[in-house]
Amino acid sequence: MKDKVTFALAKGRLAEKSVDILEKCGVDCRHILEPSRKLVMMDKSGKYEFIFVKPSDVPIYVEHGVADIGVVGKDTLLEEDRDVYELIDLGFAKCRLCLAGYKDTDLSKPKNSLRVATKYVNVAKDYFDAKGQNVEIIPLHGSIELGPIVGLSDIILDIVESGKTLQENNLCVLEEIVHCSARLITNKVSLKTKAETIKPLVNKIDAIIKSQNQ
Ligand code: PRP
Repeated sequence: MKDKVTFALAKGRLAEKSVDILEKCGVDCRHILEPSRKLVMMDKSGKYEFIFVKPSDVPIYVEHGVADIGVVGKDTLLEEDRDVYELIDLGFAKCRLCLAGYKDTDLSKPKNSLRVATKYVNVAKDYFDAKGQNVEIIPLHGSIELGPIVGLSDIILDIVESGKTLQENNLCVLEEIVHCSARLITNKVSLKTKAETIKPLVNKIDAIIKSQNQ
């Protein structure tokens, strides 16, 4: 279909909340949440295509124009730093990027370099560079909280949502870096070439989010 618009979504909560909003905009797409291994699905009208990707890959698909629109956490956007438009703060999937560790951890560690385990390697580098502090960044892909527990790192840089993972592992927030939530992003070229479809949809989503915030 000409002017088909492709969404990059990550399965799970981000996709569920995105579908709720899209349904309110008149996009009939609830069926894409049904359990399935399909990676590409269409809405009922055939105007919108959905591709299911890893959360951290959403900005990559959108930057390359394979997807026109994506829904992604601000934490991922900060880490990926892709050339996309960040149009709307969707307000869900709220969390905080934090430094965390044992309560009495000395964050300054003037003599030895502080060891920081994280999935957010670029965020960590930028954060400590801005502070002028030399740290050793240890990249991990999950279960980040294990870092200080097993002595792999002094602290972690990770997202904190409910705080339960930290609490259950006797760790705590040492410093808050930034508040994050889901964002609607678009490909820069698509916003011009598919403006007739994308702009009205973006305006509807914006109006829904604003009315929810009132
Ligand atoms: C994320 C994050 C924390 C946890 C925070 O992990 O890395 O471990 O959620 O959530 P909480 O504050 O509500 O406890 P995720 O569940 O994505 O798993 P992972 O360990 O594979 O990264």
